[in-house]
Amino acid sequence: MTDADAAPGGVGVVVVAAGSGSRLGAEVPKAFVQLRGRTLLSYAVERARGTRGLVAVVLVVPEDYADPSRLTDLGVPLGPDTVIVVGGAERTDSVRAGLAALAVDPRIEVVLVHDAARCLTPPTVFDRVVAAVAAGADGAVPGLAVIDTIKVVDSVGGVTGTLQRASLRAVQTPQGFRAEVLRTAYASGHQATDDAALVERAGGNVIVVDGDPLAFKVTTAEDLERALAALT
Ligand code: CTP
Ligand code: MG
Repeated sequence: MTDADAAPGGVGVVVVAAGSGSRLGAEVPKAFVQLRGRTLLSYAVERARGTRGLVAVVLVVPEDYADPSRLTDLGVPLGPDTVIVVGGAERTDSVRAGLAALAVDPRIEVVLVHDAARCLTPPTVFDRVVAAVAAGADGAVPGLAVIDTIKVVDSVGGVTGTLQRASLRAVQTPQGFRAEVLRTAYASGHQATDDAALVERAGGNVIVVDGDPLAFKVTTAEDLERALAALT
């Protein structure tokens, strides 16, 4: 099968950027922190736009940022395919708001959900995730092998187990899904720490594809330094 055979219907990407960034502690929401004069969201959207088959982009932002001209001024690449929606209190609420905006577009067969905070994720990762879904998975997530040995502990720090490191993956975004599968999973109303967990819980098959160190998430000031170093 060639790449063209595996090409899905349209791809829609939801970029979630409505968090406050409490661990980063900047004066503006994390996605609007600047790196070399451009916002994290601007880098993230630029890279997401490189995805093959992309037909729609949903930006989920804090209420104060939901104005297209304000986003354009902040260097966020918008287009006729772009919808801006206001996020919610938790990441799950923000994703749900983004999915609602995509639900009205019948062209979309694959949905990617991406953290604006993973602002340097290369376009190749987006394409790899889409290809895995186009090839038949309900969901695909980028992941990296885990370097540290992971212990399971009880409430007082007592070790109750050691996980088999070879079978562990630290997962990133974009996470991609067949559109119908993700909508159904979100309709369950459950909360989870990533989108794939909701699909897994609903019985969907999710596979891990190769992630990329550049898809790390900016969480702390140290991560911002790392992003700056990666750009220079
Ligand atoms: N996010 C969102 N809506 C929320 C919470 C998070 O859209 N209510 C987005 C963030 O903007 C980010 C991504 O989800 O791009 C991953 O979340 P995280 O890194 O935890 O960002 P914040 O929640 O903003 O940071 P913190 O947890 O430190 O407050
Ligand atoms: Mg958070």
